[in-house]
Amino acid sequence: MQLTDKFGRKISYLRLAITDRCNLRCQYCMPAKGIDIVSRKELLTYKEMYRITRVLSELGVNKVRLTGGEPFVRRDFINFLESLAFNDKLEEINITTNGALISNYIDKLEELKINSINLSIDSLKKEKFAQITRRDVFTEVYKTFELLEQSNLKLKLNIVVQSGFNTDEIIDFVELSKNKEIDVRFIEEMPFNGKGQRNMQEEWNYHKIIEHIKGNYQEIETLVSKKSSTSVNYKVPNYKGTFGIIPAFTRTICNDCNRIRITATGMFKNCLFDGGVFNVRDFIRNGASDNDLKELFINTVQQKPENGFIAEANRGNDVSESMSTIGG
Ligand code: GTP
Ligand code: 5AD
Ligand code: SF4
Repeated sequence: MQLTDKFGRKISYLRLAITDRCNLRCQYCMPAKGIDIVSRKELLTYKEMYRITRVLSELGVNKVRLTGGEPFVRRDFINFLESLAFNDKLEEINITTNGALISNYIDKLEELKINSINLSIDSLKKEKFAQITRRDVFTEVYKTFELLEQSNLKLKLNIVVQSGFNTDEIIDFVELSKNKEIDVRFIEEMPFNGKGQRNMQEEWNYHKIIEHIKGNYQEIETLVSKKSSTSVNYKVPNYKGTFGIIPAFTRTICNDCNRIRITATGMFKNCLFDGGVFNVRDFIRNGASDNDLKELFINTVQQKPENGFIAEANRGNDVSESMSTIGG
């Protein structure tokens, strides 16, 4: 059985948010104060998350990415990872993290069936980093970066390109790929900031980012990526690592989208830009059987919109919730 939408896209990738809480306050994600946090009982339990993942894996989902908020702020997350690793149908278990809490867990993550870590790191300058995240954690995050880089875990760096804040560091980030086997990925900023009143004055879309980079090198190789890749990938010749650009806001990746999302409160989303189709948590707590769940998932992916623009147009309210409540 393979979940497939009405456009023939095979749905094989679940993005599951572990929590809506976060230890940082990144300015492109949240306002500094007055964040809405749901009560604990509204969050999916690990048991519910395990079951949802198992049922979806029986429908052909073979890759799961754990996001948040920050997944490591939730108690017992490591135990949950251990249990998830027992699911043989999952070919990849990946985590997206801000890295501020995990420097002591790298060995443990290596032992578990974790394939890759995507680490958010938006500046290589301590003060700038503190300004962006509104927390003084650069030293700790950089320590995590170095440990991950030396580990067996595959490492991708996520950099949200923020006009007027870190665009001067784009080349420094590309240079990180010179001697390190990492994928450096530049992400277009999206308006998911929980009404944080960001002023996105100048648009750094993927065209502008790649033109900027090409202007600094004699030659850039374009790499062939998996069809469903979120990033368009490149390499500076002879550099060990690669770099890529995620056109998250321009949304040129929708044709090959293989993703569904479940938020920390159990809202099922066919697209990052849609408002949520139904709440899996309520369905489970009302006694749904595995077959009921399967039927619901199969039917719901039929509503997956063709692209993020249609999803946005369909939702009826603006796209200003915090990324921490969507799960990236
Ligand atoms: P890989 O599985 O390693 O390719 O990671 P990923 O890029 O799918 O996940 P990650 O959590 O690192 O997300 C990086 C950025 O891509 C975030 O800003 C996400 O919101 C964005 N992103 C991921 N999936 C989608 C998507 O389906 N649509 C859009 N527009 N952006 C996405
Ligand atoms: N626009 C683009 N990317 C964002 N992320 C969080 N908020 C936004 C936003 N408004 C990124 C994080 C993390 C990934 C899951 O999403 O930096 O790397
Ligand atoms: Fe936390 Fe990630 Fe949002 Fe930053 S982007 S505040 S690290 S959830």
